[in-house]
Amino acid sequence: MSDAVTAIKGFADLFPPESDAFTRMEAVARDIFFRYGYRELRTPLLERTELFSRGIGTETDVVQKEMYTFPDRKGRSLTLRPEATAGVIRAFVESGRNEAVSKFFTCGPMFRYERPQKGRMRQFHQINCECVGPSEPWADAEIIVMAMRFLSALGIEELTLHLNSLGCPACRPAYRNELSRWLSGLDPEALCEDCRRRMITNPLRVLDCKVPSCREHTEQAPKILDHNCPDCAEHFAVTRRLLDAQNIPYVLDHRLVRGLDYYTRTTFEVVSARIGAQGTVAGGGRYDGLVAQLGGPDLPGLGFACGMERLALLLPAGADAARPDFTIAVLADAARDAAFALAQTLRDAGLRGDMAFAARSVKSAMRQAGKSGARRALLLGEDELASGRVVIKNMDSGEQTSVPLAEAARHMTA
Ligand code: HAM
Repeated sequence: MSDAVTAIKGFADLFPPESDAFTRMEAVARDIFFRYGYRELRTPLLERTELFSRGIGTETDVVQKEMYTFPDRKGRSLTLRPEATAGVIRAFVESGRNEAVSKFFTCGPMFRYERPQKGRMRQFHQINCECVGPSEPWADAEIIVMAMRFLSALGIEELTLHLNSLGCPACRPAYRNELSRWLSGLDPEALCEDCRRRMITNPLRVLDCKVPSCREHTEQAPKILDHNCPDCAEHFAVTRRLLDAQNIPYVLDHRLVRGLDYYTRTTFEVVSARIGAQGTVAGGGRYDGLVAQLGGPDLPGLGFACGMERLALLLPAGADAARPDFTIAVLADAARDAAFALAQTLRDAGLRGDMAFAARSVKSAMRQAGKSGARRALLLGEDELASGRVVIKNMDSGEQTSVPLAEAARHMTA
C-alpha cells in the first residue's frame, strides 16, 4: 500500500453510515424547505474568482487566505466555491428571473483552505437557502423559523440561536467609525496581530475574534444594536416579535458580525456546545446590497447555510434503517440462478438485501450472513432446489422455517 494514492488533506471520503446521514439530512431539508416554497438550484462548483472577491469582500479571511484559486489553461483565474450564496445570486442575475420572491436551496461541497480539525474540513458540505426579493422582516423571521424547524426535524437538540442586526448603509458607517475610534483608544498590545490589521481594514471583525485577550478587551466596545437607525431598529423589532410569538428562544449577540462582508441588518448563527470549538452549525442573514453588487437589480435578499459535517456529528443515532432485510446464502453452485431470481423478487417487493455470488459451506455461508447484519438469511442449496423451497432464518431469534420459494416474498413482508 506504500505507493497507493491517498486523498488530499482535509478532503474526506464519506462512507456509510456517515453518507447515510448526509442522505437523510438532504431528504429532511427537501421536505421542510419545499413547504416554505424553496426549489432546488444547482450551480457550478467552479466560478470566476472575481465573483467571490466582489461578492464576499476582499478583506475577508475567506477571500484573503482560504480560497482554492488557480488559473485555467487560458490563464483565467478560477476559484472552487468557498460558499454558495455568491454563485446562487450570480445565477439568479444571469437568468434574468423577475418573480417578486425567488427561493432556492442548494446542497453540495464547498472548499476552504482552512486548518482541518474536528468539524472543519477543506472540502465540506452545506445545505444552503437563499431568498431574493422581500425586504420585510417577516421574511427574516420566516427563514430563521425554517432553519430551526429543519434542525429540530433532524432531532438535533440543545442549540442556541444567536441574533444580531448589522444595520444598513445609512447607519453602519457611523457605527464603524465610532468602533474604530474606540478600538484605537485601546493599548495596541491588547489585541492580536490579526485584530491590529482588522482595526484598519474591517473593524467589525475585531468583535468576533476568538482570541481570549481580544474578547476580554472588547467587552465594553460600542454595540451595533445601540447604533441601528430607526428603520433598522424597527425591522429588527418585528423580526424578534415574530420569533417570540413562535416561541423560538435566542440570545442577542453583539459580536455576531459574520465572516462574509455582504450582510446587512439581521444576522444569525446556530451554535451547539456539544461538538467542540467548531460548534456553529448554521449561519446566515440578510444581504440587501449583494444582488446589485453582483451586477443585478437592486433587490434585497437573505439566506443561511448549515454545515453538514457538523450536523452529522450531532444527529441522534438513526433507527437501524441501514440494516438489510435479507441475505441469500448459496450452498451449491447450481442454486445461484434461483438465488439470483429470488433476490430480484424480494427487491421488487420492497425488501433490501444481497445474494452471495459464490457457493459456500453452510458454516461459512452463515458466518458471512452474520457479518452482513441482515435481519434474515435465506438458505438455498441442492435440497431446496429439489423441493422448490427456501429456508428462512431469523438472524435475531435464530428461528428457522422452510417456505415455498414462490411464497418467500409474501412471508418476508407479512
Ligand atoms: P458561513 O458561516 O461561512 O456562511 O458557513 C455556514 C456554515 O458552514 C457554518 O456555520 C459551518 O457550519 C459550515 N462551515 C463553514 N466552513 C466550514 C468548514 N471549513 N468545515 C466544515 N463546515 C464549515 C456561509 O457560507 C454563507 N454563504 C451562509 C449564507 C447563505 N448567508 C446567506 N445565505
